[in-house]
Amino acid sequence: MRVEVVVLAAGQGNRMRSRLPKVLHAVGGRPMLAHVLDAARALEPAALRVVVGVGAEAVREAMVAADVTFADQPEQRGTGNAVACAGRDFAEVDWVVVLNGDVPLLRGETLRGWLDGLAASGADVGILTAHPDDPTGYGRVLRDGDGRVTGIREEKDAGPEEREIGEVFTGTLAVRGPRLGPWLAGLTADNAQGEYYVTDVVAFAAAEGGVHAHRVPDPTEVQGINTRVHLAAAEAAWQERARHALMEAGVTLRDPARTLVLGTVHPAPDVAVDPGVQFEGEVILAPDVRIGPGCVLRDCRLGEGAVVRAYSHIDGAEVGPGASVGPFARLRAGTVLERGARVGNFVETKQARLHEGVKANHLSYVGDAEVGAGANLGAGTITCNYDGHRKHRTQIGPGAFIGSAVQLVAPVTVGEEATIGAGSTITRDAPAHALTLCRSKQVSRHDWKRPEERAEPKQGGED
Ligand code: UD1
Ligand code: CA
Repeated sequence: MRVEVVVLAAGQGNRMRSRLPKVLHAVGGRPMLAHVLDAARALEPAALRVVVGVGAEAVREAMVAADVTFADQPEQRGTGNAVACAGRDFAEVDWVVVLNGDVPLLRGETLRGWLDGLAASGADVGILTAHPDDPTGYGRVLRDGDGRVTGIREEKDAGPEEREIGEVFTGTLAVRGPRLGPWLAGLTADNAQGEYYVTDVVAFAAAEGGVHAHRVPDPTEVQGINTRVHLAAAEAAWQERARHALMEAGVTLRDPARTLVLGTVHPAPDVAVDPGVQFEGEVILAPDVRIGPGCVLRDCRLGEGAVVRAYSHIDGAEVGPGASVGPFARLRAGTVLERGARVGNFVETKQARLHEGVKANHLSYVGDAEVGAGANLGAGTITCNYDGHRKHRTQIGPGAFIGSAVQLVAPVTVGEEATIGAGSTITRDAPAHALTLCRSKQVSRHDWKRPEERAEPKQGGED
């Protein structure tokens, strides 16, 4: 069965009141169009074509994928015109599936089941319908006395009785390929909006080959997004779904309503997530990971038993098994914490590899650095990696001990098991196994008197 999918995404989306094309507004951290494409892929289509118009460039750029092609609809003259602009005659195609780009919660398995039922039905057109609590704004499904679908009436064209109909068209339609071209050619714009409606194809099919209608039990799944209020409702439903999937996979969400998934989380058993955690991008979890409250985790991988304490921010980093982060730590791109490494409060890392068992527990910046196994970075260790022009690397050997408040001015190397005295500014390589320190000599003056001990008269008023 050859299936091709046409996704309609050329519309203005006026009701969003936005400069961003509607289909690029995000649900679950991804453009709603990306969700529609994912659902479409469940049909294993031979072609996946997106019709773009308003904001076409932005949509094309955001949606680059090997299996997606684009077609332009120069003027937004309605959904029927948009399908015609997909630019093919579909005579060789068994089923052309038309999806709206603004229905982000539609599931792939729903589409699959619907299309299989349609193929078996002998009808020429299939539609997905729903009974939402409030049908306002949707096209209504017209049926005759025997319950057979006779057409779809857009709300703006509907009379008072038709508006009472609770069954709506979800925007999901399939047409037998050879039928589509002639039917599209027969559309007129003789309606309230002066547009070519793809939905008029349903009346044509009712008169000829028959219509197969399948009703989706959960209307939230097929909710079309036209306003920011709809968008918020879709986001809530998406979050609910994402959280449910995490819990089903063995993740404890201590307060599910306060976990936000903006992207894809790969779950693992016995992960525990405290309230206020936000996942972004692609986050890969291993068993027994614990994530404290208020953390943001973006594009990262956490190893088995890793602990991320409260209010830490991880972006583009890898945290090894048993490693510990935070509270209040920031791991930036290119950070790798190997097994058992510890990064504590107010520590920032970037392009840094902390080998097994390294400790950087307090108030440090570790950037463009490699820190050997078991090394200890004292409070206030700073890698001075930037000279205002270029970045330079700091290399710290295994077992090194860096005292508190040390500046390592890169490029610089600290040898294996070297010790750096507290307060040093290290500008040259520090040899292995030796103590290196660089600080001004300490002096004490015994002839010094505190002001109150001096004979001088007091100046000024009271303070
Ligand atoms: C459409 C359906 C309506 C259905 C509803 C479901 C028609 C005429 N109406 O109405 O029956 O209940 O979806 O959500 O099809 N688009 C284009 N080019 C255009 C016009 C629209 O690509 O010229 C795209 C839009 O970007 C959008 C989709 O088609 O992704 C639907 O358009 P929209 O204007 O939102 O249609 P609705 O009024 O919601
Ligand atoms: Ca819509």
